[in-house]
Amino acid sequence: MSNMMRALQKTQAGEGLEMTRVPVPEIGPDDVLIRVNKTGICGTDMHIWNWDDWAARTVPVPLVTGHEFAGEIVEIGRDVTDLSVGQRCSGEGHLIGRHSRQSRAGKFHLDPETRGIGVNEQGAFAEYLRLPAFNVVPLPEAIDDEIGAILDPLGNAVHTALSFDLVGEDVLVTGAGPIGIMAAAVARHVGARHVVITDVNPDRLALAARVADVVPVNVAEEELRDVFPRLRMKQGFDVGLEMSGNQRALDQMVETLTMGGRIALLGIPPGKSPVDWSRIVFKAITIKGVYGREIFETWYKMIAMLENGLDVRGVITHRFDAGAFREGFATMGGGASGKVVLDWTG
Ligand SMILES: NC(=O)c1ccc[n+]([C@@H]2O[C@H](COP(=O)([O-])OP(=O)(O)OC[C@H]3O[C@@H](n4cnc5c(N)ncnc54)[C@H](O)[C@@H]3O)[C@@H](O)[C@H]2O)c1
Repeated sequence: MSNMMRALQKTQAGEGLEMTRVPVPEIGPDDVLIRVNKTGICGTDMHIWNWDDWAARTVPVPLVTGHEFAGEIVEIGRDVTDLSVGQRCSGEGHLIGRHSRQSRAGKFHLDPETRGIGVNEQGAFAEYLRLPAFNVVPLPEAIDDEIGAILDPLGNAVHTALSFDLVGEDVLVTGAGPIGIMAAAVARHVGARHVVITDVNPDRLALAARVADVVPVNVAEEELRDVFPRLRMKQGFDVGLEMSGNQRALDQMVETLTMGGRIALLGIPPGKSPVDWSRIVFKAITIKGVYGREIFETWYKMIAMLENGLDVRGVITHRFDAGAFREGFATMGGGASGKVVLDWTG
């Protein structure tokens, strides 16, 4: 194995990424080295590509970006006992500390010291990735590398969708981006009665309808309440999964939720936004913020569901060789695609 590898790096402050050659990472006693086969492009990677205020504040330069990946373990640290060379895997990209109250209580996803690969630490858009063995999630045969590469965002969808009991409930998903679509598919899989998904982008709504058994509503053209009689809904939605980060979508969710409804918020609004709190109080609505995945319960549940028939492959709309990363990022930036996957095996 050469000690140099291809890696997609932010080499300097400003727009874009560059394909560079960098040394293959050296691993410590508790790490593994993963040969990366496929990676997914995330909205976060788009922020880093565009070098917006958040990225300029957060991301050190130079940095190998990317955090959605699947591959194969090629080397294990001397203290790693439960993994082996040749094992296919994905992994949790949030690197947690071990000292906070939350970590010591086993609530790893709530650790305030969390650092992200591809955001604060060297990432997965490369031929090889160093990862703590603790973060590795082995993949069963039923999950190929392409699905393995989107388990991180599927995990966001699963974490959000499983925040509340959805069995027999009428669920509203606002935002038919890749994560909203996958959350809608999960809601159906676990037994929601109706799943309505909204967006203002017809391409995204068409994709949602292809991937999952959902009722798409273009809220730029149609009144959301008009679906109530069609679906024989009397009062409103029981559960809302906010997946757009858009203020109007959240307002609409609060308006169309039933008394005592529950909302899980994954979408990240660009800044502060006005909220009609009295409406939330008088409707006795419960709101839960969702960050990342529950480590590792979300991984367990999503793998179990994928093995048990959950099908989200249709959300992957574009595949490129890693060398064609510019087309991949342009496709993501176009706003009409689902997930874009890069292949690093070529
Ligand atoms: N909390 C977390 O840990 C976490 C992790 C990953 C992503 N996110 C956030 O989750 C959200 C979903 O991620 P994604 O990659 O699918 O995002 P995305 O940007 O691809 O999708 C958002 C969708 O919302 C739609 N939208 C805009 N205005 C709307 C409106 N008024 N009503 C309904 N839909 C509207 C957009 O057209 C778009 O299709 C984003 O806000 C992202 O930043 C949060």
